[in-house]
This record gives sequence, structure tokens and C-alpha cells, in this order.
Amino acid sequence: MVNNSITVIDNRTGSKFDFPIVQPTIGPKVVDISSFYKNTGMFTFDRGFTSTASCRSRITYIDGEAGKLMYRGYDIGYLATKKTFLDTTYLLLHNKLPNKNQLASFDLELKKRSFINESMKKLFDAFPDNAHPMAILSSAVAALSAFYSDSLDMDTPEEVIEMAHRIIAKIPTIAAFSYRYSNGLPVIYPDLDKGFTENFLYMIRAYPHGHVNLKLIEVEALDTIFTLHADHEQNASTTAVRVVASTQAHPYAAVSSGIGALWGRAHGGANESVIRQLEMIGSVDNVDKFIAKAKDKNDSFRLMGFGHRVYKNFDPRATILKNLRDRLIHELNIDSHLLEIANKIEKIALSDEYFIKRHLYPNIDFYSGLILNALKIPKEMFAVIFVMGRTPGWIAQWIELKEQKDMKIARPRQLYLGPNDRTPKN
Ligand code: ACO
Repeated sequence: MVNNSITVIDNRTGSKFDFPIVQPTIGPKVVDISSFYKNTGMFTFDRGFTSTASCRSRITYIDGEAGKLMYRGYDIGYLATKKTFLDTTYLLLHNKLPNKNQLASFDLELKKRSFINESMKKLFDAFPDNAHPMAILSSAVAALSAFYSDSLDMDTPEEVIEMAHRIIAKIPTIAAFSYRYSNGLPVIYPDLDKGFTENFLYMIRAYPHGHVNLKLIEVEALDTIFTLHADHEQNASTTAVRVVASTQAHPYAAVSSGIGALWGRAHGGANESVIRQLEMIGSVDNVDKFIAKAKDKNDSFRLMGFGHRVYKNFDPRATILKNLRDRLIHELNIDSHLLEIANKIEKIALSDEYFIKRHLYPNIDFYSGLILNALKIPKEMFAVIFVMGRTPGWIAQWIELKEQKDMKIARPRQLYLGPNDRTPKN
């Protein structure tokens, strides 16, 4: 709803230009500058989109100051503690929480699609030993479009929902296969008697014909991690998905691009870096030295898992995971030297003026790294876990974009600073 406007004055000429202010449901108002170039002949410049809303969305809301995150109007605390990842996935796709029957039939639809075409194994075989699971995952997701090419047009709601079910159901199997192949282990097929998250843990832990004992708290912890990662409005990987989707590319291509964007250390790779850093610190005796390095202006060292671009007071996802970490340690009786180091760092950072003044609280990656490590999930799988959690969000964003009648191809402009025409005139 446009209820007022903002006036921009060109100080060179005194010309005035009005731009509508759009009122969101909640959150900062948005100035609609889509006619800026047409009216002023100038572009706007916003590195990293720090002041730019790139789309209209009804999916996820974040208030970084208040530490609030909601999917489809439901608080993340409620979803993470009272609902499962499958409930949350259904919510993201259908804009409502499922009742018991809807959840059961959703679960069944996913189970039916959890196997992958046997020929896809040739693709896994083609990768060298020790290939990073993210490399295999992104290729295999793009390859799904070749193996399941029957409904790529996405012209009907049935085709769209079929695609959504396929991607969400097959990614855990591909993810588990990626891990097993990269470690030279025999693959384990999905067990249809197991729930979504339990089945994934089973596929990475089990051995053929062997029994694997999965504790309820382990399944619950991973399920919560999935829920907390399910969407985060227009972050880098979701933006990548939307940019690719805006070209009318099919969702397999879009999701594969999202996986590529998420692979980066500054995005999905952060919790892996937390564990690598704790291993590098090596002992509680070294913590003070590394804290001093983190505070030293002349040292580029940063404490991984501390600080957040958006959440400046606390990250609501970190609060939930902190409690979960404590429960996990207690119930699984975990006593590791990495935890000891992490606890000391956390304690110092929460009481040290340097960190308090800069709002550098432990973020989601600090706790998710510790939890995944406690679940004995290998570090190279951390980003893969993030992908599994984020997939429903990507799909929901893809569907939302597709349904917007005035959707435009994403095509930003630039501030050109290269040479002027240097072509010889004759
Ligand atoms: N350790 C030590 N000092 C830090 C840290 C850190 N982790 N993070 C920020 N600072 C300091 C900076 O040196 C700077 O200090 P100064 O004001 O004296 O110059 C101040 O805090 C502000 O830092 P910025 O980089 O401007 O903060 P920004 O909001 O841009 O960065 C970021 C946020 C990138 C997350 C940063 O805190 C960081 O690098 N953290 C470590 C990496 C990490 O954990 N990433 C995961 C983020 S969560 C996620 O992506 C899901």
C-alpha cells in the first residue's frame, strides 16, 4: 500500500523527484525506486544490497535488533520447540501448518520420492575419492533435471508440487550418498520406516545389514538444526536461487546455484570453520592468546562463530541451540576437549568489554558446529546439513517468485569505473 512518498532533490538543478513509500506488514518502510533511472537518468549504488529490498515476500520476517525470526508468521522458537522440520517444510510450502492427516500424507509423498534413479550412481562414481560432498551434491541436484525431465516446465501447480516433493525428498539421499562415496563407503538406501531426519542420520551412519542405534535426542537435535536453517529471507544463497529462477530456469538449476552460494566460508561454511578453529586453538591454555589476537586491531584473526550482520543483540536461533547443546552434552554425557575450549571462549566473550561493546555474541554457527560435532557428523558435511535445512526455503522462494505476475529478470546495473572508449578512431 502506497501511503506517502519521499522527495529527492537534485542539488545541481533543483529538480524534485517523488518516490512512493511502501508500507510493509511489519519492519522498515520501503522506498520504491523502480522509476528512479527513468525519472532522474541516474542509477542508485548499494554494494551488497545493504539498503535494498530485492523483492516482495510473504515468507520470512527478521528483526535483527529485536532478535526475532518468523516463518509465515510463526516465531522460530515455537516452530523449533513445538513442531518438526517436516511441519515447518509444509508450512513454508503451503503457508499453513499441517494437521495430522496432512502431515502423514506429506511424509508419505516424500518417502515415495526418497530413492534416486539407480543410473545416478554413475555420476557419483565419476567423482574422485575425497571429493567434497558439496561438489557432488551441487552437481547431482542439477543432474536431477536430466533424470526427472518429465515436469520441467512447471506450468501447472501439480508440476510445481511434484518438483518440490522430489527435491526435498531426494536431497537427503543424494547428501548421504555424496558422503558415502567421498569416503569409499557402501551406500545405504532410505529406510521407509524411518522419519525424515532419522532416515538421514541412518543413511550416513549405518552399514549394510548392520544395526545402528540412533538416540532420540540425536534425531531431535538434527531436526531442530534443520528447522532453524529452513529460511532466512533474502540471504546470499536465496538471492542466488531467485536470480537464477528469474531467468525462467527450472528449480533444479536454481537450487544447485543456491548450493554453490551456500558453500562459501562467509555463508554455509561458517560452522565448519568454528570447529577447525577450536581444533587449531588446541587447548584451553591457548584460549587467552587467541582472545588477545581477536581483539588486536593489527591482527586479522577473528573468533569464528561470534558476531552477525543482522542480529545485533542476539540471534534467536543461537539461543535455541545453546539450550539444545546443553541438553545434548548432559544426555549423551559428552566430555570433549573441544567443548572445554569452546566453553572457555564463550564465557570470556560474553563478559569481555571488547565483545560486549561490539555486540559480538555467539551466533548460530558456534552452537550448530558444536552440536554437529557432538553428533559425530564429519566437518565436511556441515554445509550439506545446512543445504538440507535450507532447501524448503529455497523452494518456497522459487514458487513465490514464479507466482508473481510482475516478476522481472534480475538484472542489476553498475557504477562503471573502467576506461572510456579507447578504440582507435582510424
Ligand atoms: N571476532 C573478533 N572481532 C570481531 C568479530 C569476531 N568474530 N566480528 C566482528 N569483530 C569486530 C571487528 O573487528 C570490528 O571491530 P572495530 O569496530 O574495532 O573495527 C567490529 O567487531 C565490527 O565488525 P564488522 O566486520 O563491521 O561487523 P559485521 O556486522 O560486518 O560482520 C560478521 C559480521 C561477518 C558475522 C563478523 O562478526 C564475523 O566475521 N564473524 C566471524 C565469522 C562468523 O562467525 N560468521 C558466521 C556469521 S552467522 C551466519 O552467517 C549464519
